[in-house]
Amino acid sequence: MVTHTRQRGFSLFIICLFTIVNYSLKFTEGIRVSDGAVKLELIHRHHLQGERRNVAAQPLERLRQLVHSDAVRLRGISLKVMLIQGGAGPVRRRVSETDDAFIPASTNGGGGGGSNNKEQFSNVSGQLPISSGADFGTGQYFVQFRVGSPAQKVVLIADTGSDLTWMNCKYRCRGGGGGGCRRNSNKRRLFWADRSSSFRTVPCSSTTCTNDLANLFSLTRCPSPISPCAYDYRYSDGSAAQGLFGNETVTLSLTNGRKTRLHNVLIGCSISSSGPTFQSADGVIGLGYSNYSLAVKASNLFRGIFSYCLVDHLSPKNISSYLTFGSAKQQTDTMHYTALILDVINPFYAVSMNGISIGGSMLDIPAEVWDVKGSGGVILDSGTSLTSLVGPAYRPVMAALTASLSGFEKLGLDVGPLEYCFNSTGFVESVVPRLVFHFGDGARFEPPVKSYVIDAAPGVKCLGFVGGAWPGVSVVGNIMQQNYFWEFDLVNKRLGFGSSSCK
Ligand SMILES: *[C@@H]1O[C@H](CO)[C@@H](O)[C@H](O)[C@H]1NC(C)=O
Ligand SMILES: *[C@@H]1O[C@H](CO)[C@@H](O)[C@H](O)[C@H]1NC(C)=O
Ligand SMILES: *[C@@H]1O[C@H](CO)[C@@H](O)[C@H](O)[C@H]1NC(C)=O
Ligand SMILES: *[C@@H]1O[C@H](CO)[C@@H](O)[C@H](O)[C@H]1NC(C)=O
Ligand SMILES: *[C@@H]1O[C@H](CO)[C@@H](O)[C@H](O)[C@H]1NC(C)=O
Repeated sequence: MVTHTRQRGFSLFIICLFTIVNYSLKFTEGIRVSDGAVKLELIHRHHLQGERRNVAAQPLERLRQLVHSDAVRLRGISLKVMLIQGGAGPVRRRVSETDDAFIPASTNGGGGGGSNNKEQFSNVSGQLPISSGADFGTGQYFVQFRVGSPAQKVVLIADTGSDLTWMNCKYRCRGGGGGGCRRNSNKRRLFWADRSSSFRTVPCSSTTCTNDLANLFSLTRCPSPISPCAYDYRYSDGSAAQGLFGNETVTLSLTNGRKTRLHNVLIGCSISSSGPTFQSADGVIGLGYSNYSLAVKASNLFRGIFSYCLVDHLSPKNISSYLTFGSAKQQTDTMHYTALILDVINPFYAVSMNGISIGGSMLDIPAEVWDVKGSGGVILDSGTSLTSLVGPAYRPVMAALTASLSGFEKLGLDVGPLEYCFNSTGFVESVVPRLVFHFGDGARFEPPVKSYVIDAAPGVKCLGFVGGAWPGVSVVGNIMQQNYFWEFDLVNKRLGFGSSSCK
């Protein structure tokens, strides 16, 4: 399949050389056609295997890594949400002007906007493949993405908690000169901005840079009016991304066998990025709710809808799942719908929750825990692996679940904030009472047991919840979301979900 993809990329390159391309190019091979739906090209996690490094050999060590990057991210999310809920408005800090204090672990980003594409694809959708990050030592899911003219391939973390789409990048390297432009010593995949005829930097003197992108950590440094608008993100675990904002063209493959190009998408060209958070990816695809997000820009074209289905992170490697812009035809049992709460804690997607039941009994959790307009709330996040519940929700959930596991030996493993791991010899799922999230509008989300009693190592399972500080938000992470199809309808402000094998 790797070769297959590469060949297609190559033939596409040739076509680009000889054709004046504007809207649609016919794919010559390998694209799914499903009655007029438009899909972006998808990749399988299998494809990435062997290209990625930094995968811990031991399952327990992988889980530790995953839990560590989660912890960092969750701290970032709560800080950001607290600033918003505390009335500070959007997070507005310029890194260069603060001390090295913690910067939210969400990769925020930039300006594109301008969704005045003439064509509206009402009967089609675009689709990207999603790979599980479990293979790469992280809990994140990846999509393969084409950016620039001619299109270059990058692999990005699919992140509903980010609004900037950024990737590792080289800019101004044509002369073959300076230190930053040497050949890739570590063979990282990069976006070569110089080789793209459609890359335009955002001038640092523009109001886009000085105002709009200030929310997104643009720097005030501006040596000359046309110098590129720069950004600097820092993460508490030492991860960082610094680079330039630019407008670029993004190529999406449609389900009807054609391709579409989105122009003037704001991307971050990260000249340097480092640290554990991004080791396995080339960057991040911003699916959060903001004017800068690719999800908002792309879904504007496709009826305001995007969706994904996350395969079980332990499923066979030849099973793929997809990120789709537009209506996806996904096999689910029944779709359940609940209101999507937009604009309260952007770029996060919040949902209303009435409570959690275990084994049919509603747990005693104070209502303010779920109140996103107060100091609680629940968000759905594709970039966090584990599910984080604030104290007053975490404690009753853990109490009810551990009671059912009393027959198994509790293990004193050090897996970060995972409090309860046990020897799973003889474990069957039926010993665990079913947990149900009761979302608003009567929508019941009943994840499979393996989404909260998670495999840690051979013979070891852990309860997959982490306790969060109260007041604060609770986060439904991607392991809890797996084996479900999730549809974000940004126009009707509605979240749909249904259990699915993601085929
Ligand atoms: C979408 O619908 C329009 C008319 O509503 C039609 O002309 C067009 O062929 C359809 N496109 C696809 C890909 O089915
Ligand atoms: C980038 O795109 C935005 C939105 O389409 C547009 O308003 C802006 O002028 C573009 N900037 C550059 C430098 O091309
Ligand atoms: C996008 O921009 C418009 C106008 O500037 C603003 O009213 C709207 O709230 C913004 N949307 C988001 C999601 O930030
Ligand atoms: C995946 O591989 C297994 C065996 O390796 C095979 O039985 C199964 O049919 C494959 N599934 C798909 C969707 O190709
Ligand atoms: C679990 O218990 C079984 C025997 O009951 C033992 O053989 C095995 O080593 C234990 N596994 C762990 C990880 O402690």
